[in-house]
Amino acid sequence: MSKYLVTGGAGFIGSNYIRFLLRKYPEAVVVNLDKLTYAGNLENLKDVENDHRYRFVKGDICDEALVNDLVVEADIVVNFAAESHVDRSIGAPDDFIKTDIFGAFALLEAARKNHIDRFIQISTDEVYGSIDQGSFTEDHPLMPSSPYSASKTGADRIAFSYFVTYGVPVQITRCSNNFGPYHYPEKLIPLFVTNALEDKALPIYGDGKNVRDWIYVEDHCEGIDFVLRNGELGEVYNIGGGNEKTNMEITDYILAKLEKPATLKEFVKDRPGHDQRYSLDCSKLHAMGWGPKHSFEQAMDKTLQWYIDHPDWWKKIKSGEYLDYYKNQYSSASL
Ligand code: NAD
Ligand code: TYD
Repeated sequence: MSKYLVTGGAGFIGSNYIRFLLRKYPEAVVVNLDKLTYAGNLENLKDVENDHRYRFVKGDICDEALVNDLVVEADIVVNFAAESHVDRSIGAPDDFIKTDIFGAFALLEAARKNHIDRFIQISTDEVYGSIDQGSFTEDHPLMPSSPYSASKTGADRIAFSYFVTYGVPVQITRCSNNFGPYHYPEKLIPLFVTNALEDKALPIYGDGKNVRDWIYVEDHCEGIDFVLRNGELGEVYNIGGGNEKTNMEITDYILAKLEKPATLKEFVKDRPGHDQRYSLDCSKLHAMGWGPKHSFEQAMDKTLQWYIDHPDWWKKIKSGEYLDYYKNQYSSASL
């Protein structure tokens, strides 16, 4: 099991996962299929682009012929490709339905037609919806409430159906909110860190009391790898960091560490349908021997330092320069 097809590998988690694979497994061969939407950035993989074990293919997971050709060559498919930002899904759900549902279906169809050893569907804790008290186990009913989480739920359950109906060797992971290097600065932590570094306002939705469970991206990558090697087929695994924080706690932590004033906090209109709290019960994976290695503080400090050390990466994205750059750079279907 060493030929990986990673989709969405030019995004935040996918790029960290590819780096993790190449570092951990000398025998790994990785094809990265990514459409390079606004969120896909080949600079996230600059350090591995010349590794002979790595190949980038620019393309859409909804392109059934292309997907089939790539799945034929793979042992393991890990599907990260998705539209991933809740706020964008509220403004324009179309691409979420197309990529997150139809794209997953196209990949699963290719997996059904060709023998593969494993298909990992990267799902999310958001499929469960919001919970005021207690935590979600893997068999809790799914109650997604945003177009993003509803699309991810569609893919999650279609993947399961391909295991039950066709015997495709599917596993499904549901992770909590990630943070770390190469996180696109539209999401809470990278947006607030980079805004604070530029002395710009931090826009807090509603009262700032919504709770998320935060996990360092490397711990998520290890969790996926653990599931691949130790999990059962057809099973769902929650992957959480065990760090539940209100958005206000995250904001205060960032401002304190960067020695910036509380006056940068700005309360803005709440997100429509804003889920109050996410919380995962990860006892299933913990009992099997997996747990996150980083404490919240260690991981946040590494993350803050990364953004301090890489202003060129995020300033280019925030200025919009990056999009134009790649639009001109890559026009062919495959690189
Ligand atoms: P991201 O937005 O940073 O990256 C998504 C990547 O997918 C980008 O490189 C983009 O170009 C690519 N992509 C989008 N549409 C595509 C298509 N049609 N064909 C091929 N590539 C396409 O997202 P992320 O934060 O890295 O999340 C990756 C996955 O993990 C997603 O499936 C997301 O739902 C899931 N997830 C994310 C989190 C989180 O906190 N970020 C938590 C749990 C699960
Ligand atoms: P986000 O990073 O978009 O992840 P998700 O909505 O998928 O959990 O948001 C995390 C939390 O931060 C969520 O409760 C919304 C809130 N938030 C803000 O208060 N301000 C912001 O500018 C953003 C992007 C998010």
